[in-house]
Amino acid sequence: MSADQKLYEGKAKILYSTDDPEVLLTRFKDDATAFNAQKRGSIRGKGEINCAISTHLFRLLEARGIQTHFIDRPAPTEMRVRAVKIVPLEVVVRNIAAGSLCHQTGLPLGMVLPKPLVEFYYKNDSLGDPLLTRDRLLLLELATPDQVDQLNAKALQINEILSDFFQQCGITLVDFKLEFGLDSAQTLLLADEISPDTCRLWDQSASDPRQRVLDKDRFRHDLGNVETAYQQVLERVLAQTVEV
Ligand code: TMP
Ligand code: ASP
Repeated sequence: MSADQKLYEGKAKILYSTDDPEVLLTRFKDDATAFNAQKRGSIRGKGEINCAISTHLFRLLEARGIQTHFIDRPAPTEMRVRAVKIVPLEVVVRNIAAGSLCHQTGLPLGMVLPKPLVEFYYKNDSLGDPLLTRDRLLLLELATPDQVDQLNAKALQINEILSDFFQQCGITLVDFKLEFGLDSAQTLLLADEISPDTCRLWDQSASDPRQRVLDKDRFRHDLGNVETAYQQVLERVLAQTVEV
């Protein structure tokens, strides 16, 4: 795979152009950040692990009829993806109260929500990725009303597929963040990645709340054994085959 020019370097990935303008190459990095990059570090092997997990989950979603930007994985830390214009929204789906939902509402950590909650955050580092209302999102013209409805429906559909899948892995999908992009035909494709960086994943076999965490919260809150947790998720995900 001949990677051309570096187009963009994010906190966890680098994006390169390729010979084909419709195709980009993503390289997953070991670098880790949290709290809008106020905390920085590195998780050994993360690039390869997140690339492998994302590949598996994108294949699963494609097999279930969700259109994604995924093409293939030409190298352990590399993913070829369809070029899309990223919608500047972080679409978060929550099944269980954790993280900012607890901080901002006072709901207790671990409370099972009566139904999945879909939230939209403005993907804007200088503003600190604020939570948006539907009206604010439309005011800023970040998406059309039809796109907001589509994003909401797709997020819930993806939640059902991923929750069932992780259940088979003995893992509870607490919450996760998605990003979407528009291709040249203006079709919304699931983009970015799905990995322990972007999901909260709790091990169902662990009784201690600190031990159950298998995601980036181990890095955010200095819980230790970050690499082992990511490796655990990879092994359990790969043990589940995806029928395409
Ligand atoms: P939050 O509880 O901090 O709002 O996070 C909700 C979910 O979104 C959680 O699974 C982690 C993920 N997330 C990201 O992927 N990127 C981010 O920048 C943030 C803040 C959260
Ligand atoms: N990815 C975000 C950052 O660095 C936040 C997070 O995942 O906690 O800054």
